[in-house]
Amino acid sequence: MLPSADQQEILRRRTFAIISHPDAGKTTLTEKLLLYGGAIHVAGAVKSNKIRKTATSDWMEIEKQRGISVATSVMGFDYRRVAGDSHAQQDNTIYHINILDTPGHQDFAEDTFRTLTAVDSAIVVIDSAKGVETQTRRLMEVCRMRKTPVMVFMNKMDREGKDPFDLMDEAEKELGIHCTPVTWANGQGLKFESVFALNNRPKDLSAKLQEDLEIIDEVYPAFDREAYLRGDLAPVFFGSAYKTVGVQELLDFLVANAPSPLPVTAEERNVEPMEDKFTAFCFKIHANMDPNHRSCIAFFKICSGKFLRNTYYYHVRKDQQMRFAAPTCFMAQKKETVDEAFAGDVVGLPDTGNFKIGDTLTAGEKLHFKGLPSFSPEMFKYIDNADPMKQKQLDKGVNQLMDEGVAQLFVSQLNGRKIIGTVGQLQFEVIQYRLEHEYQAKCKWQPLQMYKACWIESNDAAELDTFKKRKAQYMATDKEGRDVFMADSAYVLSMAQQDYKHITFHFTSEF
Ligand code: G4P
Repeated sequence: MLPSADQQEILRRRTFAIISHPDAGKTTLTEKLLLYGGAIHVAGAVKSNKIRKTATSDWMEIEKQRGISVATSVMGFDYRRVAGDSHAQQDNTIYHINILDTPGHQDFAEDTFRTLTAVDSAIVVIDSAKGVETQTRRLMEVCRMRKTPVMVFMNKMDREGKDPFDLMDEAEKELGIHCTPVTWANGQGLKFESVFALNNRPKDLSAKLQEDLEIIDEVYPAFDREAYLRGDLAPVFFGSAYKTVGVQELLDFLVANAPSPLPVTAEERNVEPMEDKFTAFCFKIHANMDPNHRSCIAFFKICSGKFLRNTYYYHVRKDQQMRFAAPTCFMAQKKETVDEAFAGDVVGLPDTGNFKIGDTLTAGEKLHFKGLPSFSPEMFKYIDNADPMKQKQLDKGVNQLMDEGVAQLFVSQLNGRKIIGTVGQLQFEVIQYRLEHEYQAKCKWQPLQMYKACWIESNDAAELDTFKKRKAQYMATDKEGRDVFMADSAYVLSMAQQDYKHITFHFTSEF
């Protein structure tokens, strides 16, 4: 176990992601949280790294600002609950908050899914005029799968919009989780104010509010922290990030109730944050921030113990000791070199191509953390070289971008051609742009009719062998050399599933 001062460091950490549909107000809310933490002093300081339209030109604009988006990848700040907040008992803890940024654009949903593996809780932001949108529902599915505790912030209540009771119903139904209000919306539009529904109720309630609160008491369960921590109950806040209403209540409630760093499951065993031995996994790689230098940052979430600068750690996949002279942490928008970091923190390690997503660093133990999801691609294209003089550059670029987790690469066993699988069209544009600008390579895309990539597995070696021979024209290998069945239609897939009962078809590479 760690010495108690280090345990205190871990206990005061709150690492979470804010997830939402683009435009729901994630950037505005993040900024207000940073203002409360004293991490920034003026609104408008956080540049959003979101991509509003599916156009390359927008993305290129974003590319120019990558420095900014790296800095906003993790925003750390210290926060102490407001004295005299009668909702909470006196609490002098100085909490350390790490907000992990997630890309808003749905074509980068995979990045968001991966970021969710590195957080201990999440805030779901909903635009109260629009309600729960598809993308939010999908992200919430990942939270449910991982049992991530979530809080819901019903934003933009300063606008005329849906009734709070309808919003509660919709959240329960669409997010698939029990909800209970912590603050409530009194009025709408300009009349709107956020009031505590749980306790600390104002004395002179309006008749309408009195009535609302009676219904709330009757219909919704009291907040139960255990149920929240299990991922069964979401506390709901009504507010306006823009008008800074309900934000402090959310933050105070979060530091008091959201979990400090949680245990993480490795294939070998469960890893507890308080163990004295350091362990961490890589959930994100940000490559080539400066095209003149091949500078990458690999983001590691620390699962246990304490990370020290200039100390040798064990890179499990490479079976190699490595140390880091310039690890960075992120305070608000600034990137700073740090000497130490604790379980719950994210450290950025300068990388020259040593790391892949999912890599583990430890103090010597062979550990493999589970659950970094790799989602089944939905769009496929052949990638061809458009400049024969630059084949090497193209291969290198494609390999590095795949290590970064931008998309997935398959090689057809039939004709040896490379196939790129993505979750959206924008990713193809981004790959092409980055190959050109970072690797001086040119690519062409060739359409490919494909339904699903399935990783196949079976205890019946003979059946597997027959399958691979019969379906040779549909077989490919992924980057790890595993067999993948590329079904070109739902029909082909369902026939294969029917005919080969002893083969399991997995739709993600993580199984
Ligand atoms: P995102 O990161 O989730 O994509 O959303 P973002 O914070 O950028 O907010 C999207 C738009 O919604 C912004 O307006 C923002 O000002 C507005 N907004 C956020 N919170 C609230 C709120 O509580 N009430 C109201 N009325 N509006 C809110 P924009 O016009 O796109 O940008 P801007 O010109 O305001 O920067």
